[in-house]
Amino acid sequence: MFSQETFPSHILYGTDYNPEQWPVSLWAEDMRLMKLAHINIVSINIFSWATLEPRQGEYYFETLDRIMNMLTEHGIAADLATATASPPTWMSRLYPSMLPITCDSHRLTHGSRQQYCPNSADYRREAVALVRQLAERYRVHPALSMWHVNNEYGCHVAQCFCDRCSFLFREWLQARYHSLEALNEAWSTDFWSQHYGEWEDILPPRSTPTFKNPSQVVDYHRFMSDSLFQCYLNEARILREVTPTIPITTNFMVAFKPVDYFAWAPALDIVSIDLYPPHTAQAWETALTHDLMRSLKGGRPYLMMEQTPSQVNWMAQNPQKRPANSRLQNLQALAHGADGAMYFQWRQSQGGVEKFHSAIVSHEGSEHNRIFQQAAQIGAELEKLSPSVVGSRVQAQVALIMDWQNWWAVENLPSPSDRLRYWELIGSWYRALHRLNVAIDVVSPAASLSEYRLLIAPLLYMLRPGTAQNLEQFVAQGGTLLTTFFSGIVDEHDRVVLGGYPAELRKLLGIHVEEFDPWTPDMTNEVLVEEGPLQGRYPCSLWGEVVHLEGAQTRGLFARDYYAQGPAITVHQFGAGQAWYIATQGNDDLLNKLAGLLCREAAVSPIMEVPEGIEVTCRVQAYEHSVYFLLNHTGRAGQVRLPTGKFTSLLTDEEVEGVVEIAAQDVVVLLRHSSSS
Ligand code: GAL
Repeated sequence: MFSQETFPSHILYGTDYNPEQWPVSLWAEDMRLMKLAHINIVSINIFSWATLEPRQGEYYFETLDRIMNMLTEHGIAADLATATASPPTWMSRLYPSMLPITCDSHRLTHGSRQQYCPNSADYRREAVALVRQLAERYRVHPALSMWHVNNEYGCHVAQCFCDRCSFLFREWLQARYHSLEALNEAWSTDFWSQHYGEWEDILPPRSTPTFKNPSQVVDYHRFMSDSLFQCYLNEARILREVTPTIPITTNFMVAFKPVDYFAWAPALDIVSIDLYPPHTAQAWETALTHDLMRSLKGGRPYLMMEQTPSQVNWMAQNPQKRPANSRLQNLQALAHGADGAMYFQWRQSQGGVEKFHSAIVSHEGSEHNRIFQQAAQIGAELEKLSPSVVGSRVQAQVALIMDWQNWWAVENLPSPSDRLRYWELIGSWYRALHRLNVAIDVVSPAASLSEYRLLIAPLLYMLRPGTAQNLEQFVAQGGTLLTTFFSGIVDEHDRVVLGGYPAELRKLLGIHVEEFDPWTPDMTNEVLVEEGPLQGRYPCSLWGEVVHLEGAQTRGLFARDYYAQGPAITVHQFGAGQAWYIATQGNDDLLNKLAGLLCREAAVSPIMEVPEGIEVTCRVQAYEHSVYFLLNHTGRAGQVRLPTGKFTSLLTDEEVEGVVEIAAQDVVVLLRHSSSS
């Protein structure tokens, strides 16, 4: 069986590679250039279904055989894709009902990619037939090192609304609710005469005259995330059966709202992520994504499967990545726990939609340009870091709680405010914690929390069964928790829990929220803190609340409006720990100070003290050594005072002690031997 403990055995450095789109005469040159760039793995076969199976049941593997053999000869591993992400055109001719239907009842067609309904039996049958052929053919091929199932599930078609989906949605609902009575109750169908007397009357949430039933919408999110997951499982099942020792992945996309990655991750052997930050992205934004991906499988190393070498093709304007960014972004991935970094793509396309997307080998075709040279330099550096870094783990004492199901519910309209952006609010707290140089995990509300000292759970509007108890246990045993406005409002069916907000969290937080007051963009207030470490006046936005104390103490007050002098920040001693609440969205200054105070209260100390704009992380190899990454994201040099002890600078081989200087946009990686700790 595949062992997660030993994969990968070295840092992977690679790229999507599509040699079947190029003359065979270029392939030898590709191999030469890949060696120059230190490429040790390539993702192949991602969009090759039409060439592998040009007519139904007629398979041609000669080209793929040659590619696999060529990779073996050159010592390059294959991340072999199952090629099911883009069905060939004969599929839409033979099985037109395989094409997805939008919520406005438009049928999509081929000519682009990902034109399949995830619930199409025809699509699934044909996909599985292809996967079996591939698995049997390359079962013992020496180049086969990882399976890449499909590609970016849900990226273009996250939901389908066809008749087959309707039918399966009903089956899914029957399994969930068992009776129509229970469904009617869960969906509050007495409202607006929506009561269902027959299962067959239930539809997906297609276009309706006005707002749709919110419980139905949340269930449809669940159902479609599960449907895409079934597509993954159908392929993975065959791969596990035929090649049980080969790891399986599928590439995730940042915090992609339609797909609940927490539910999927246990079925992947290694998590991989495609990361395309805009050129304006701050270091903390990419750090947040990395921390989520690492946390999906409890801290195991993951892969950055795709990134762009420079410009992309799909924005309105596509600036080049600034020269230092690529290296910083690759090393930031490693710093946060990735054991591999790969690109889209190797050779820049001559035609097609992505002809102006950058690639390691540009249209000019040689190694003599900035982007190739940069990729080669990064490859050399990752190779150097590999022995000290591979397999090591980030250890976090702080976690942010994130819940996809809550995301689906809290942003569904109508809601008290259309200004609530769940991922942005998580980001605002992550940003405040990240500048304190502490390691942060991003976990589901059902996660085991005992390893953490501090938890922040922004906007936890929907409390699914067990969440309140998990949080209570965490705090009772000495943890520090902060949650925010509009938390503890509804149950898993998006029905308000009656008896006073924040319902199940009321006892833990020691408060009662009588009213919440979502603000328009021109409405603001201030939080007043009269004494203590938070002392000051802080502008706040988005939301206010009328809060009453039920055991908690006030740590900040609203300054104005009809709830002036009412609690805006509270803390409640609960068991051996503390439960904090903030009833508004404070400005950055308040969030920064609160994050600092909470870390102190929870006895969480920074990995290292570093100047603003320098990011520090630490990866620990079991009982052996720690590797510190110092990433200077600023345009000026900075100095860091190191803890006592001797360090080896892994990129320069120098011995370092005392103060280390980091040039603008440079990275220093330091190995600390256990003897110095
Ligand atoms: C990804 C996709 C790749 C390529 C890339 C371009 O979403 O997986 O196939 O299209 O975007 O940025």
